[in-house]
Amino acid sequence: MAKDKKKVLKNNNILLGVTGGVAAYKSVDLIRRLKDEGASVTVIMTDASKNFITPLSLEIASGNKVYSSLFEDPMSHIALSRNADLMVIAPATANIIGKFANGIADDLLSTCILSFKGKVVIAPAMNWRMYENPIFQENLKRLISHGVIQVGPDKGSLACGEEGIGRMADISEVIEAIKSALSNKDLSKKKVIITAGPTREYLDPVRFISNRSSGKMGYAVARACLRRGADVILISGPSSLQSPQGLKSFVKVETAQEMRDAVFKYLPEADAVIMAAAPADFSPGKKEKTKMDKSEKLLVKFKNTPDILSGIGRLKRRPFLIGFAAETGDRLDKARKKLIQKNADMIVFNNVSSAGSGFDVDTNKITLIERDRETPFPLMSKDEAAEVLLEVIAKYLRKR
Ligand code: CTP
Repeated sequence: MAKDKKKVLKNNNILLGVTGGVAAYKSVDLIRRLKDEGASVTVIMTDASKNFITPLSLEIASGNKVYSSLFEDPMSHIALSRNADLMVIAPATANIIGKFANGIADDLLSTCILSFKGKVVIAPAMNWRMYENPIFQENLKRLISHGVIQVGPDKGSLACGEEGIGRMADISEVIEAIKSALSNKDLSKKKVIITAGPTREYLDPVRFISNRSSGKMGYAVARACLRRGADVILISGPSSLQSPQGLKSFVKVETAQEMRDAVFKYLPEADAVIMAAAPADFSPGKKEKTKMDKSEKLLVKFKNTPDILSGIGRLKRRPFLIGFAAETGDRLDKARKKLIQKNADMIVFNNVSSAGSGFDVDTNKITLIERDRETPFPLMSKDEAAEVLLEVIAKYLRKR
């Protein structure tokens, strides 16, 4: 399979409206990231936005002509919206949101919005006083009630020097909202438990043993499930990653035992469990109540932690069960054994000692091991790997 085959936005035409807010400069990054995801981007700028960024910058970033005049190319307001799969307005000022909510079409962008039949994502950005204004809030509610997708804004320091709500959402969140809007919702009404990250097994209140898992793969799987409309319960060991937007539950745990308890709590309602976490296999038999003194001789006797995947595999009635096998070396044989021994439905194998496929990197090279087949994939981003994995899982879940 070619590397770019699974890019979620491949073959999508995105019409990006840039309006007059300080965050307009971020559109260069947004365009670059959308193109990296395989999309083609055409930009419409309002006149006000040109105070913050030049049309030339956006033309270079997008590789396409930038539009802004309603009359330069008289039919552009129809042609542009007819050719787009999705419209995104980022940043979206109070002015464009007000016009959109009230059907006003007095420039190219507002006219295109009115003639567009697909999904529209808006990323509001403004001062908190404007954001909290009840008239603005009514406009926003009206758009949402018509199916417009809002992403952000965030709280933080604003361009005017004040603190409050109104910062444009992170570009990653805007991209995620776009991907979600364009995704097939074939997992809607399905409940999926995903575990991610390492666990910590404490020796005393300040010392623990852990492993190098970052949680990146599990979080990518959670995002891919959310895009497909699933109810996602993410159970995560300690990780520095931002939890995805839209989770049904986000449960933070530290130890393997806590992870096991959280998984089993949600298990009765789950259609699938994806064990992307790397729970520690051993934990000190005893956790000291106070910090050990270094003059003490350290002799630790470890006990095995509960094997969560095997525990679910042993149940008479269980959800669809996916495990991961991170091995050092090309040990597909070990991964195959885990599929049988843990009674999983699928194991995602990856060789953590091969380049680009280890811990804390954004890429992975996986092989999906099912009972009757094995499918190797080339090196791809963890987001793309999550996407190919979900495509297979969704097929199974649709049949259940
Ligand atoms: N796993 C689990 N509970 C544990 C350890 C692992 O549920 N206490 C799950 C992992 O989340 C993963 C799968 O089992 O989905 C395989 O984990 P891995 O560490 O590769 O295998 P282990 O069973 O721990 O065996 P070993 O470390 O000896 O390879």
